[in-house]
Amino acid sequence: MKILGIETSCDETGIAIYDPAAGLVAEALFSQSDTHARYGGVVPELACRDHIARSAPLLCQVVADAGLTLEDLDAIAYTAGPGLVGALMVGGSLAASLAFGLGIPALPVHHMEAHLLAAMLEEDAPDFPFLALLVSGGHTLLVRAQRLGTYVTVGNTLDDAAGEAFDKVARMLALPYPGGAALAELAAAGDPESFDFPRPMKNRGLDFSFSGLKTAVRLKLESETARGAASGMNGSLHANIAASFQAAVVDTLVHKSMQAMAMTGLDRLVVAGGVGANKELRHRLTAAGKQQGFRVYYPRPAYCTDNGAMIAYAGWCHHGTVTPGVPSILARPRWSLDELALRR
Ligand code: KG4
Ligand code: ZN
Repeated sequence: MKILGIETSCDETGIAIYDPAAGLVAEALFSQSDTHARYGGVVPELACRDHIARSAPLLCQVVADAGLTLEDLDAIAYTAGPGLVGALMVGGSLAASLAFGLGIPALPVHHMEAHLLAAMLEEDAPDFPFLALLVSGGHTLLVRAQRLGTYVTVGNTLDDAAGEAFDKVARMLALPYPGGAALAELAAAGDPESFDFPRPMKNRGLDFSFSGLKTAVRLKLESETARGAASGMNGSLHANIAASFQAAVVDTLVHKSMQAMAMTGLDRLVVAGGVGANKELRHRLTAAGKQQGFRVYYPRPAYCTDNGAMIAYAGWCHHGTVTPGVPSILARPRWSLDELALRR
């Protein structure tokens, strides 16, 4: 069985083929970050146009790289949401029309479920049930994953997502968009204890809030820049701000994950989404697991950020649950993971 996956929910065009007997057969990714960098964030119209230009050629390349033809495919999985509606429509239209032409099913995939399943592409894969910490550019979620397709959100962000906070602080530090990875790199050269930024909502349940932290960083950056300019010493200010900000986010994510593990009584934690690639977060969570007696599973960093492989794999997990017939295009810009259980 060969399942093609198409990811176009935001600013990456990702295509991959998954074969349960052979694993990932081929994959390709195109990141639009250069297009959006000059605007400091994703411009939805430009994202759509780029997906239109890239998705079909990238798909043909992946099929050829796998040594296959389109007729060898058994199903086409695509990201149906959440995400930018126009970008979702591009991938959905390609998937549904190709599936219709080939007489095979089109499988709509929930982007956050695909993130959560990505850890299962690794050799040391987690079994259900587990707790998932999903930290991406648009979401910060703690989810109790009971079984495939049954998820209960136990913690959510009240404002900015963790990745969004990384990107906004990176912008303040004049790092290019998307700034998460660049900020983490800069942080490695700074002292995480140089500024004592707030650990938002630390002792208030499992929800998150990162907008106050972002404001605290902006105010500190402004005052320290003015002070440094007056004394002629700004030196490693940006690296110290980056390190102290990262420490505050990581502390908060680790603290809430430990609380959630204790509250749910689960012994497996799966971390996924772009911020899941953060080395400091991985290091601290693994240590927390050792201390509290739970195991932590991560996809490799390239499968933490958006990619086609996780969509193809999620399609495989759900194949057989789709009713045959003419494929329709599902595009849901807002879509909670908890709603998936209602489909079953
Ligand atoms: O999962 P993802 O690729 O896209 C969404 O579904 O949103 O996550 C992208 C986010 C961006 O905010 C990016 O800055 C952040 O993940 N990110 C990181 C790192 N790598 C990517 N944040 C912190 N440290 C990293 N190493
Ligand atoms: Zn994502």
